Amino acid sequence: MKKIIAIDGPAASGKGTLSRNLARELNFAHMDTGALYRAVAFEVLEQDKEPSVEDNALDGCKALQVNLHSANPLSNPDLRTEIIGEAASKVASIQSVRDFLTDMQRDFANNPKDGLDGVILDGRDIGTVICPDAPLKLYITAKCEIRAARRMKELQLKGESVTYEAVLEDMRARDARDSGRKVAPLRPAKDATIIDSSDLSEAQMLENALTYAKKAFG
Ligand code: C5P
Repeated sequence: MKKIIAIDGPAASGKGTLSRNLARELNFAHMDTGALYRAVAFEVLEQDKEPSVEDNALDGCKALQVNLHSANPLSNPDLRTEIIGEAASKVASIQSVRDFLTDMQRDFANNPKDGLDGVILDGRDIGTVICPDAPLKLYITAKCEIRAARRMKELQLKGESVTYEAVLEDMRARDARDSGRKVAPLRPAKDATIIDSSDLSEAQMLENALTYAKKAFG
């Protein structure tokens, strides 16, 4: 059985932290698929173009493909800003962009690196579109207000000056765009286990997920 864990959920739900912790505990590879969309958006904004226009977004995909050969654009800390997150959710609504990034994600899912025991992909459509046959699917969510407070803390730690109200408004807009779009909308797969992280610590989240992983993979 392929050891694939699909983890989906809205922004700041805790899925990224959980995925990293789980990957470390299980000796699995981890792909943060949001970074792919952020990297495309970054390329579009570098060109001073509008990310919701398909031709611009596809140019961004091509620029990313070129950069992937020479550097590691996915680990660029500049991808982590709210402006890039917002632009990422615009390019992510375009089917041809999603098609472009699908092979990269499936290739990662199906070819774990030597020495690793499986893979974890986190994103919005991993359980529904990218890896519908993953033996373990988790959908991580939390109340919007709690996610906005978490995101605000993160941004403040990075020295960005933001207000709670502004972050909450952006979070609602991003939720609406990600859940309301026609292509690959954010939603739990039918067979996903839903975990509400609102009142759970990082350690409790990991413990829960490890229990599900043990059930799925023995
Ligand atoms: O998870 P993160 O906030 O980095 O994702 C940025 C944006 O990329 C999301 O708001 C979403 O629109 C898009 N995304 C997606 N599908 C994924 C991962 C991210 O549509 N698998």
